[in-house]
Amino acid sequence: MSKYLNGVKMGVEGSSRPRAESVAPARGGGRALPGLSAGRYVVAAAIFSLAVVSPAAAEKFGLGRPALPEEIAAWDLDVAPDGTGLPAGSGDVFTGEEVFAEKCAVCHGDFAEGVGNWPKLAGGQDTLDHDDPLKTVGSYWPYLSTTWDYVNRSMPFGDAQSLTADEVYAIVAYILYSNDLVDDEFVLSDGTFADVELPNAEGFILDDRLEAEKHFWNPEPCMENCKDDVEITMRAMVLDVTPEEESAAASGDAAPVEEAEEPVEVAAVLDPELVAKGEKTFKKCKACHQVGDGAKSKTGPILNGIIGAPAGYVEGFRYSKAMKAAAEGGLVWDEAELAAFLAKPKKYMKGTKMSFAGLKKEGDIEAVIAYLKSYSQ
Ligand code: HEC
Ligand code: HEC
Repeated sequence: MSKYLNGVKMGVEGSSRPRAESVAPARGGGRALPGLSAGRYVVAAAIFSLAVVSPAAAEKFGLGRPALPEEIAAWDLDVAPDGTGLPAGSGDVFTGEEVFAEKCAVCHGDFAEGVGNWPKLAGGQDTLDHDDPLKTVGSYWPYLSTTWDYVNRSMPFGDAQSLTADEVYAIVAYILYSNDLVDDEFVLSDGTFADVELPNAEGFILDDRLEAEKHFWNPEPCMENCKDDVEITMRAMVLDVTPEEESAAASGDAAPVEEAEEPVEVAAVLDPELVAKGEKTFKKCKACHQVGDGAKSKTGPILNGIIGAPAGYVEGFRYSKAMKAAAEGGLVWDEAELAAFLAKPKKYMKGTKMSFAGLKKEGDIEAVIAYLKSYSQ
């Protein structure tokens, strides 16, 4: 209890994504622990103000209206270390493996071992006292609730909150299995949740600086020109959590793909302004796709020559079953099909691996298609 109370304090005072920096004993890398379930109390405070303060304020000032119970419920997602806040549900390791393969493995690997620079979710046990510790859900995170909450709240990357409660239970069971913490028969549910203790549960200390470091405090701190020169003495070692374009391309495990045959000069018939706008829009795609000379398949396939190409044509890229089926059905990426896909990928193609919510702003689709055309024949 005291351990996460400490996290709570930081959550309330600090940013919306509380970090456990000051409670972690063996920090070598630059990663902070996400979540730490501090949110419960932040949210509790928010609910308090919504439910109690707003109606009064609404009456007094004639502003707004009290939040509906459904609106509060939609915000009130967080799960505490003891499992408080979990929805009813369950999922087993086998189901988790399937869902994970479908929705998470492109970035986190089939066995949660991580692809390229995307985070590893398994392994690293007994490395916390190394210079370069591998901090994963299994090796570092103290509470399973953080995993449940994090996955439920923010994954899959680009398509957050698309998982059902049962899917989250199954995935978390699979992540435990990948860390050798449960066997393959294991079923995680709101009932079994509290039985799981993560190996590093005792690895955090109470942040008692308020008392322990009191004697360092200076009641009249120096506020200007306090030092002659300032020197940087330490640097975070791990800065590459989310892959940069180059680093991801360099790690490219999907085989490099042949260039589209002789890119023909089509730029002439394209509106250069629209193409330039599309290049900006394409920034949204760049996390996963490359175009142009030397482009490689990354999380998503290379997109050279995509306009007018049959779906799923990039050799060596591991498409989803859904994309393969569409390809067999003869889908061709003409402008109309592509526009429909890009507006709502998951709706257009149920089961696609493209974890992208879709382009919503008017004109973006047209522009990005023009940009892709400039790389197509
Ligand atoms: C498109 C790539 C991508 C996909 C797909 C994806 N993730 Fe992630 N995941 C990330 C990135 C990037 C981070 C790091 C985010 C950060 O630190 O801000 C991350 C972080 C995580 C973390 C925290 C890891 C840590 O130690 O900090 C967990 C747990 C996780 N993802 C689970 C999942 C699960 C489960 C799925 C499938 C439902 C999934 N992810 C799908 C990219 C992805
Ligand atoms: C989070 C990663 C990600 C983002 C962001 C993303 N894609 Fe994708 N994209 C994929 C993946 C993975 C596939 C393969 C889908 C499958 O196999 O179901 C894909 C497939 C495609 C395809 C079909 C390719 C083929 O060979 O049939 C097109 C076209 C495409 N994406 C365009 C875009 C565009 C344009 C954007 C930006 C507006 C974008 N994608 C954003 C990951 C992404």
